Amino acid sequence: QSGGVVVVGSYVQDHAWQVEQFPRPGETCRARGFATGPGGKGFNQAVACVRQGVPTAFIGAIGQDALGDVAQGFATAENLPCRWLRLADMPTAASSILVDASGQNQIAVNLSANERLNPDFIAAQADWFDAARVVLCQMENNLEAIAASFRLASQRPCLRILNPAPVHAGLDRSLLALVDILTPNETEFSLVHQRLGTAAVDPQALADMDDATLHALARKLDVPTVIITLGRHGCFVSHAEGAPLADAPCYRLAPEAVQTVDTTGAGDAFSGALAAALVLLRDQPFRNVVRHANRVAALSTEKMGTAPAMPRLDEVIARFGRSF
Ligand code: RIB
Ligand code: NA
Repeated sequence: QSGGVVVVGSYVQDHAWQVEQFPRPGETCRARGFATGPGGKGFNQAVACVRQGVPTAFIGAIGQDALGDVAQGFATAENLPCRWLRLADMPTAASSILVDASGQNQIAVNLSANERLNPDFIAAQADWFDAARVVLCQMENNLEAIAASFRLASQRPCLRILNPAPVHAGLDRSLLALVDILTPNETEFSLVHQRLGTAAVDPQALADMDDATLHALARKLDVPTVIITLGRHGCFVSHAEGAPLADAPCYRLAPEAVQTVDTTGAGDAFSGALAAALVLLRDQPFRNVVRHANRVAALSTEKMGTAPAMPRLDEVIARFGRSF
């Protein structure tokens, strides 16, 4: 995986139902469609990344069960090299996802095997870290495995991206100190501030805040580069003074116009494509890297599903032209 991306993260077998409206407690509603396929924030991000044509490798945990075998089959079909911790006493993770007519979702996920990824297993994959240019994690694993990944990455010349999704109750400054780029959505940005006790942030208010206010809030997290994804409002980039990737102190990127049917996994598309674009566009302004991530995220919402909905580089270029 020379010069590529290593994703350490979750694998989840997703089960997604399309409904008109979310049912109320006690209500049964008819679904107009159903599909099951690979998901989990980590695996989704790895698929988004490898589909940009960048060497990508995935480290995750699954059970010694039928769904675990299915996971390995999906990875092979994507040409995604994986190293799996296979657990005899924990099932492969599974989720239940409802998607309503507007493309919003509700998700229940049992993370099971993902929570047993551990520092020893990560340490045994050090050769992959030696060759990596970017290491990308989310928060569907236990904190020890995530911290171990970033510590290994810190001893090597590679960039560390944390997508703080979903925000882990144990998230603290010592973990953030290991991160170069943080990619929260509005809710996660608010929750990270809450965890650190740095500010009370109303997630609904973020999209309408002026750049200076957002920048000041982002700087309180003490991560060199923070990108807040704002859904249909695009995203906001904030760099610390002198941050290695800084091309301007802060700026916004407008959303791309798409026909959204399912927003599930759009954040994963963004973080996975960001990692890929850091490799693809290594000498370009960071703005171009973020623009590519923004485009991949937008396009991922035009299809139902998570990992299978990730667009390939040629589809992104066909739709939007080259971002570089
Ligand atoms: O971000 C979307 C993912 O979150 C889904 O694939 C589901 O598995 C949940 O973990
Ligand atoms: Na989708």
